[in-house]
Amino acid sequence: MGCLTAGEQKYSRGLEGVIAAISSISCIDGDEGNLIYRGYPIEVLAKYSTYLETAFLILYGHLPTEKEFEDFRENIKSNYELHPGMIDTIKNFMMDAHPMDVIRSMVSMMGIFCKDKREFSREAKYLKAIRVIAKIPTMIAAFHRLREGKEIISPDKSLTYSENFLYMMFGEKPDELSAKVLDIALILHAEHGMNASTFSGMVTASSLSDIYSAVTSAIGTLKGPLHGGANERVMSMLDEIKSLEDVKPFIESALAEKRKIMGFGHRVYKAYDPRAKILKDWAYKLCEMKGDLLHFKMGDEIEKIMIEKVGKRGIYPNVDFYSGLVYTHLGIPRDIFTPVFAMSRSVGWTAHILEYLESNRIYRPRAIYNGPIDLEYIPMEQREE
Ligand code: ACO
Repeated sequence: MGCLTAGEQKYSRGLEGVIAAISSISCIDGDEGNLIYRGYPIEVLAKYSTYLETAFLILYGHLPTEKEFEDFRENIKSNYELHPGMIDTIKNFMMDAHPMDVIRSMVSMMGIFCKDKREFSREAKYLKAIRVIAKIPTMIAAFHRLREGKEIISPDKSLTYSENFLYMMFGEKPDELSAKVLDIALILHAEHGMNASTFSGMVTASSLSDIYSAVTSAIGTLKGPLHGGANERVMSMLDEIKSLEDVKPFIESALAEKRKIMGFGHRVYKAYDPRAKILKDWAYKLCEMKGDLLHFKMGDEIEKIMIEKVGKRGIYPNVDFYSGLVYTHLGIPRDIFTPVFAMSRSVGWTAHILEYLESNRIYRPRAIYNGPIDLEYIPMEQREE
């Protein structure tokens, strides 16, 4: 086979429609607006499950028995702490670093401080996945405290995963509703098929590299504004609009100028993103409890206008439209919205990596060559300036 040239092979820009794996982890029905993890609709998981139970389900393929869950939860909790060497290093980071750069570098560093780094058994790989899921919240909170000139708060193992994250961030045990809303947001972001960051992690893992390197790749990919960062921009848009009365003129002129409204549209969903539907209800409860419904009312108004104007084109709110509202009212700084996404998605990333490794084949696509061929090599001294 010579160089692949245009016309000989089908090229799919952005790999749209390309099937790159067979997976039993999740299924997205973009036309109907349904998402299931391991056979369970997300509505059911958001109603009855917890983030850690859902994490077990996604990683192992079934809902845990009491004993399995107890062991899993203990395993997560006993891995919350960061290695002292990592704490020393984080203290020397530039405090104006983006928290996504911090967690990307720290997950990479886990590969250096890991005691069983040369162990590649299936059990060792699962244990490394659990360590990543356990430590990302500790990394985020530690860096956030340090950059605010505060002491790092050690994890509290008596709390749930979500409660513990908020506790490590803010130094006090969160109220029940705040912890519940965060837990639901984490369930809803935990897994979403072959998205860019998951695929990126799988590509790294497919060379039989290690789990930490694979998750480092995934975090780097999630960081980009086309993937993880839309919820931050939803909040900037609400800042720009300022009031409920200004919503209509803002949206109308944005649409007339063909500007995108952040938190709307999705490559796969052409109906209402089911995650956004669930999160909207919880965002309302949280904003109501905090006594500040302005953002929520503005969001609701934007949604009504958008659905009326562009709903028929399959543009509906996506999960990021309401996650920004939720995180803001939990007191989470905007540059930590995407790290919280990473904390949740670490489950989906590692589940896909572990699943793919069961029947691994290195990812190695090809490119169509559209450059010259058969050029003559001219010695440097004879080349024209
Ligand atoms: N507001 C207004 N118009 C939109 C929007 C939007 N949010 N999204 C898509 N459109 C329009 C586009 O202008 C385009 O119109 P045209 O055909 O007249 O040119 C058409 O719909 C198709 O849009 P594309 O960008 O080609 O759709 P694609 O599937 O490639 O992109 C994406 C999906 C990136 C999510 C897009 O809808 C978007 O940029 N949305 C805003 C950012 C956002 O909310 N991202 C979060 C996604 S969810 C997540 O990552 C967790």
